[in-house]
Amino acid sequence: MMQDKQYLMIPGPTPVPPVVMAAMSRPIIGHRTDEFADMHRRIVERLQVVFQTKNEIFVLTHSGTGGMETAIANTVEPGDKVLALVTGNFGERFAKIAREYGADVDEIQFGWGKCVDLKAVEEKLSANSYKLVLSTQNETSTGVTNDIAGIGALVGRTPALLLVDGVSGVGGIEIKMDQWSVDILVTASQKSMMLPPGLAMVAVSPKAWQIIEKNRSPRFYLSLPAARKSYEKWNTAYTPGVSLFAGLDTALDMMMAEGMDNVYARHKLLARAARAAVRALGLELYVPEDSYASPVITAVKSPGGINGDDIRKVLKNEFGVTFAGGQGIMKGKIFRIAHMGFSDKMDIMIAISALEMALARIGHPVELGKGVKAAQQVFLGGNE
Ligand SMILES: Cc1ncc(COP(=O)(O)O)c(C=O)c1O
Repeated sequence: MMQDKQYLMIPGPTPVPPVVMAAMSRPIIGHRTDEFADMHRRIVERLQVVFQTKNEIFVLTHSGTGGMETAIANTVEPGDKVLALVTGNFGERFAKIAREYGADVDEIQFGWGKCVDLKAVEEKLSANSYKLVLSTQNETSTGVTNDIAGIGALVGRTPALLLVDGVSGVGGIEIKMDQWSVDILVTASQKSMMLPPGLAMVAVSPKAWQIIEKNRSPRFYLSLPAARKSYEKWNTAYTPGVSLFAGLDTALDMMMAEGMDNVYARHKLLARAARAAVRALGLELYVPEDSYASPVITAVKSPGGINGDDIRKVLKNEFGVTFAGGQGIMKGKIFRIAHMGFSDKMDIMIAISALEMALARIGHPVELGKGVKAAQQVFLGGNE
């Protein structure tokens, strides 16, 4: 196989646009400079467009989990009652972090492949009093997008804060932080935001600040009050990933030039094509319901007793295509095709064409070209 010709289709890290790579290779600048402060301000102003918020947004040198832990560390004190809405691996992680910080976590398990059921949330909220509600916007482990607007409408009527893990969705799936009553929204650089790993972005509402300022739990590197002090001067509390900031500045240029509505429409179109192709090939979608299927990742059940990891091995070794495997209880049972961030129509064509060849190679009956054709028809507008 040709060296270096790879097609990365996992849900993070995702491919990085060449202009973003070029921006990150510029000479490093000092972070206590006007130049950095100008860039920081530009970044935040445009992140506010992506998050649809007037809130402060902290760009922190963490992975996504670091952003989630920052949200918890600044709001949870031992014994606090927390409601965790769990639809897969990352919902479980959010609950686990809260437990580590001593929270008394009430977990609703909606089941893998299912979305949050608003009725269940409403019942829990009316029977209990919670300090926080934790939810996942896009459950990457299953390919489900939750109804954050619906959850926010319920939580916003209570004193509880709504903390949302938007790590894989923000930048690819619309979110309206202010209108939907989200109190802390977390995302990370390496997914829909088109950057390498290394930055988390954490937005904080005024309602959340009231809790954060009263919080007595230990926090240092993760302290949002410390971050806020520096933010007032467009600075950061500690040395930031300066090159990643430069990349983010350029990634946001790209997003603003495309227009966020077009960015969201592109992701929906890619998901529609991927799903049409999977169905045409006679494979089963892990999330058959289109209404809550993710626009940025498509999970497919591995067919006919084949371990999904075996399909992935052929894809990688013979065609240079990398899909993600199943996580947790779904290991080996599904494979996941990411179409988030710097992803377009021809990425789907490559993914589906390679999948057809891998299935044929493994001996699974497949009519070559059937999935490709279904995706092409979606892109040509013939499958509306
Ligand atoms: C929804 C979601 N939350 C959290 C994370 C964790 O992010 P990180 O691996 O950057 O810590 C991921 C990463 O896959 C994710 O998809």
